[in-house]
Amino acid sequence: MADEQTPPAGPDLTQGVLLSDFSGQTLVGHVGDQDVLLVSSGPEIFAIDAHCSHYHGPLAEGLVVGESIRCPWHHACFDLRTGEATRAPALTPLAVWQAEREGDRIFVRQNREQPKPRGRGPVDTPGKIVIIGGGAAGFAAAEMLRRQEFRGSIFMISNDAAPPVDRPNLSKDYLAGSAPEDWLPLRPENFYAEAGIDLRLNSNVTLIDSKARNVVLAGGGTIPYDRLLLATGAEPVRLPIPGADQQHVHVLRSLADCRAIIGSINGARRAIVIGASFIGLEVAAALRAHDIEVHVVAPEQRPMERVLGPDMGDFVRALHEEHGVIFHLEDTVVTIDGKRATLKSGGVLEADVVVVGVGVRPRLTLAEQMGLALDRGVAVNAHLETSIPGIYAAGDIARWPDPHSQENVRVEHWVVAERQGQTAARNMLGQREVFDAVPFFWSQHYDVPINYVGHAEKWDEIAIEGDIAGRDCLLKYKGKGRVLAVASIYRDLASLQAEFAMEQEMTR
Ligand SMILES: Cc1cc2nc3c(=O)[nH]c(=O)nc-3n(C[C@H](O)[C@H](O)[C@H](O)COP(=O)(O)OP(=O)(O)OC[C@H]3O[C@@H](n4cnc5c(N)ncnc54)[C@H](O)[C@@H]3O)c2cc1C
Ligand code: FES
Repeated sequence: MADEQTPPAGPDLTQGVLLSDFSGQTLVGHVGDQDVLLVSSGPEIFAIDAHCSHYHGPLAEGLVVGESIRCPWHHACFDLRTGEATRAPALTPLAVWQAEREGDRIFVRQNREQPKPRGRGPVDTPGKIVIIGGGAAGFAAAEMLRRQEFRGSIFMISNDAAPPVDRPNLSKDYLAGSAPEDWLPLRPENFYAEAGIDLRLNSNVTLIDSKARNVVLAGGGTIPYDRLLLATGAEPVRLPIPGADQQHVHVLRSLADCRAIIGSINGARRAIVIGASFIGLEVAAALRAHDIEVHVVAPEQRPMERVLGPDMGDFVRALHEEHGVIFHLEDTVVTIDGKRATLKSGGVLEADVVVVGVGVRPRLTLAEQMGLALDRGVAVNAHLETSIPGIYAAGDIARWPDPHSQENVRVEHWVVAERQGQTAARNMLGQREVFDAVPFFWSQHYDVPINYVGHAEKWDEIAIEGDIAGRDCLLKYKGKGRVLAVASIYRDLASLQAEFAMEQEMTR
C-alpha cells in the first residue's frame, strides 16, 4: 500500500500506459491508492505490488532475473507470476495484478487471485517434524513446510519466551526507539495455531535421542520425530571479567535482552559498548539516537577491519565519530565496579549502562551430546543434512560446503539462516535441494546501510569503486583474481548484480 503521506506513484494504470513509455524493464504506476509495478520479462509484462513485503523496499530499483525480481535493500526475491517470496528475508507474497494489453497500451485494473506458489511439494511424507529453535532458521523452515503443503505435525520448540522476532531490528530501529514493538514478530500470534505449528515457547530441549527419535524437554516430556531440524543459533560471548554479572551490564540476542537494555537506558546519560562488532556499533548508533554519550572500547585498531578492510573500517569509525561516539581502540575493559569501568590502559570510564558485543558462539551442546560431526559448528552436507540421516542443521550453527568460496563456511547472517531453514524444510520433504545461495548480510549505522554479498575471510586485494566517504561505493574483495565478496553503500543494484554474477560463476 502507498504510504499515508505519499501520493500514489507514477501514472494511473487504470487509464493505461503506452508501450513506448515503457523504455526500461520496470515502470511504477498506481491503481487507486496501491502502487503497482509493471515488469517486462521476455515477451510478457507482469504487474505486481511495487514494494517489498519485508521492509517496503522499492522493487523498481531491484534486479529482474527471468521471471523474478530481487529487492534492492536486503535481496529478497519474488516470483513475478505468482508473487511468492521465493527468497528470504521476505516471507509474505506480493499481490499480483492483471496486466492487459490493448493496442499499444497496457492497462492494470484489478488484482489477480493469488496463484499457488510454484514448487514441487512433498516428495517424501514424514509424519512428524520437530524444529529446535524459534529464530530465523527455525521459523523460515516451519513456514516453508506449510507452504510446501506438508500436512504432518510440526513442533517448533524454543527456549525463548517470545515467539520468533525480527532479530536484526533489535539493534537498530527498535532499540533506537523509532520502531514500535509490533514490527518485531515475524508473524502474528494466531499464525501458529492457524498454520498448525505447535510452537512451544520457554521450552528447553535438553537431549536428543537419535536412536529412539525423541527430543527430551527440560522437565522430562518427550516429543517424537521423523525428521529433525537443529536451529539453535548462537549465544553472545560473555566477558570473564569482574563485574560483568551486574544488572546494568547487558548482552543482546533476544527480545528480553533488548527490553532489559531499554529499561537500563531510561534516564541514563552515559553508556559503554564493549566491542566494535556489527552489533556493538549498531547498538552505539541506537543509543546515540537517545542522546546518550557512548564510549566504544575494543581491542582492534579499526572497527570492522577484519570483515570489511581498512578503508571501510576507517569510514565506519569516522561515521560514528561524526555522530559523537568516542572510541577507545586497542584497549579492553578489565573490571566493572558499579558504574566505573577500568580499562587495560589504566583509564577509567563511568557509565550507567554497559552493552557487551564481543561476538557469539554457536550453541552446540545438543549436537555434541548426540555425537553429530562437528567442525567449528555442526558439519552439514550440501543438503544441510548432518552426519545422522534425517537430522538437518541450519543457521548460525551450521557449517556447510559453500560452492562459491569452495570452502566449508559458517556465518552469522539473518538471510542465510532463513534461506537455510527454507532449504532444510524442502529437503526434510525429500527434495534434495543443494544449498547454494550466495551469502548476504546487511548492517545499518545511522542512515548508512552496508550490504555485503559473498564470503571472504581473507583477500589479496580490495578494489574500491566510487567514494567511501561520499557514501557511494562498491568494494570488491579479490583472491587469486576472483571476486570473493562485494561490500557496498548506496549501490544496491550493483550489489544485486554482483550477487547474480557470483551465482552465474557457480553454474559455469
Ligand atoms: C541484535 C542482533 C542484530 C542482528 N542484525 C543482523 C543484521 O543486520 N544482518 C544480519 O545478516 N544478521 C544480523 N544478526 C544475526 C542474525 O540475527 C542471526 O544470524 C540469525 O538470527 C541466526 O538465526 P538462527 O535461527 O540460526 O538462530 P537464532 O535466530 O538465534 O535462533 C535460535 C533459536 O534457538 C532457540 N534455542 C537454542 N537452544 C535451544 C534449546 N536447547 N532448546 C530450545 N530452544 C533453543 C533460541 O531460543 C532461539 O529461538 C543480528 C543478530 C542480533 C542478535
Ligand atoms: S525491504 Fe526488501 S528485502 Fe528487505
